[in-house]
Amino acid sequence: MMTITLIWGIVITVCCCLWIIFGIRRRKTGEPPLENGLIPYLGCALKFGANPLEFLRANQRKHGHVFTCKLMGKYVHFITNSLSYHKVLCHGKYFDWKKFHYTTSAKAFGHSSIDPNDGNTTENINDTFIKTLQGDALNCLSEAMMENLQLVLRPPNFPKSRSAAWVSEGMYAFCYRVMFEAGYLTLFGRDLTKTEAQRAQILNDLDNFKEFDRVFPALVAGFPIHVFKTAHQAREKLAEDLKHETLRTRDHVSELIRLRMFLNDTLTTFDDMEKAKTHLAVLWASQANTIPATFWSLFHMIRNPEAMKAASEEVNEALMNAGQTLSFEGNLISLNQTQLNDLPVLDSIIKEALRLSSASLNIRTAKKDFTLHLEDGSYNIRKDDIIALYPQLMHLDPEIYPDPLTFKYDRYLDANRKPKTTFYSNGVKLKYYYMPFGSGAMICPGRWFAVQEIKQFLILMLSYFELELVESHYKCPLLDQSRAGLGILPPLNDVQFKYKLKQLRRCA
Ligand code: HEM
Ligand SMILES: *[C@@H]1O[C@H](CO)[C@@H](O)[C@H](O)[C@H]1NC(C)=O
Ligand SMILES: *[C@@H]1O[C@H](CO)[C@@H](O)[C@H](O)[C@H]1NC(C)=O
Ligand SMILES: *[C@@H]1O[C@H](CO)[C@@H](O)[C@H](O)[C@H]1NC(C)=O
Ligand SMILES: *[C@@H]1O[C@H](CO)[C@@H](O)[C@H](O)[C@H]1NC(C)=O
Repeated sequence: MMTITLIWGIVITVCCCLWIIFGIRRRKTGEPPLENGLIPYLGCALKFGANPLEFLRANQRKHGHVFTCKLMGKYVHFITNSLSYHKVLCHGKYFDWKKFHYTTSAKAFGHSSIDPNDGNTTENINDTFIKTLQGDALNCLSEAMMENLQLVLRPPNFPKSRSAAWVSEGMYAFCYRVMFEAGYLTLFGRDLTKTEAQRAQILNDLDNFKEFDRVFPALVAGFPIHVFKTAHQAREKLAEDLKHETLRTRDHVSELIRLRMFLNDTLTTFDDMEKAKTHLAVLWASQANTIPATFWSLFHMIRNPEAMKAASEEVNEALMNAGQTLSFEGNLISLNQTQLNDLPVLDSIIKEALRLSSASLNIRTAKKDFTLHLEDGSYNIRKDDIIALYPQLMHLDPEIYPDPLTFKYDRYLDANRKPKTTFYSNGVKLKYYYMPFGSGAMICPGRWFAVQEIKQFLILMLSYFELELVESHYKCPLLDQSRAGLGILPPLNDVQFKYKLKQLRRCA
């Protein structure tokens, strides 16, 4: 017994010594300052995970604008000066944008590699996304979303008695329900013969989505899904409902999903379930950020009387100019691209809400050793290292955004109430000042649609309902930092609000 303990003791000691001698990376000349952290493999991951913003600010004070941290076995170079962002993006040819995303997607959603280099697929998903989420395709998507939002918010059999009464609900729960259902219908189509059954299925999927999304940060961090039994089951059920045999029975399936369904040769070696899991990845990308973004936009708008007033006026005017009359039964509101794009107040409200709640980590991998030339110096980067931007540092920088923690609905409006695009740091005009959708080649392909659907939601809420917070002086809920790095952070706690259908003109 003693000898076994002794042997283990020696083995562990030797391993530790080996790790200290060979495992710890040493800074070479020309490289950024290096934080190895104290824990093998994890490095600084625990500190980073606990509060990324504070961790990065502390390192910025200690090392300056560029430094390297060991995180989960990887060496991550953080570039923290907003004035350097455009310089970083000039080095595109040295970056592998996809490697990290492909691996993460496969781990989180459980499909095999979608990297064409691995031989299982030939689809260029980047092209698919751009073709089906932007340009002409955006018209159809946007039209379908407007219709679906109204189906959800104001179903044809909406009880008339409810029109006179206030309904009270958690605002986050409300946004979750409405955006999830409308977004799901918009991407994956409607079952016109079984509306009620499909509704029940979507609400069931919503519960599973929440369950799965709860463990998403852990999956990205590298934990296997098997550790989380209920989340694993939830993921499988979600995928089950996205199989092609089900989707084939639907109407109005979006171009994005249709294209991927019927390009049989592109997903060659995948079975039905694996294909469904790639659709699940799209479902997640389309919902996980949009839902909290919708919440924050609605919350800040309702909470700020000036914002509410300016938004209502803008929406009323837009509807009038578009010849849209609100009616209780009868026609749905519909606005085309030009009309939706010409709403600077709503744009500013949404931007400001996203500025305050976004915490994304923009990541690219170095394809080879190279030198990164920035405004204030050059840095040697090794192959397979990661270059990261954390735009929250910029979004909350008082130099760029005075009083950065305060919601100012008109922050992105200029003196003529048109979109404001000039922001400065140290007197220098910034090329990048707003980055909730990422940057460079991996910028979110759904960003136009995302903003439009949030706008549509706000337009409909303002048009159909009277809105109030249950308590007039709600403190702003805190951000759920456990999801930092993934995008828009949800609120830590929900906020109760009341809504009541407006007394609308009835059609003759
Ligand atoms: C407010 C809402 C949204 C935010 C803040 C957001 C943000 C982001 C970010 C930060 C990325 C990663 C970019 C990078 O790695 O640099 C991303 C990727 C992506 N987003 Fe969005 N997104 C939103 C809504 C949407 C919507 C509505 C869709 C689609 C319908 C969508 C589709 C995608 C897809 C497909 C990717 C992956 C792109 C790729 O891997 O090539 N997003 N999004
Ligand atoms: C390709 O797909 C097959 C079958 O799904 C799987 O066994 C294999 O691991 C995949 N290859 C890669 C590189 O992911
Ligand atoms: C894809 O496969 C389905 C069923 O296997 C078939 O009905 C369809 O025609 C195929 N599409 C193409 C473009 O080959
Ligand atoms: C939207 O409608 C307006 C007014 O009918 C029209 O002037 C404009 O060209 C339309 N825009 C698009 C993109 O169809
Ligand atoms: C995706 O396509 C766009 C437009 O063609 C291009 O600018 C971008 O670099 C591509 N991204 C990747 C990761 O290939």
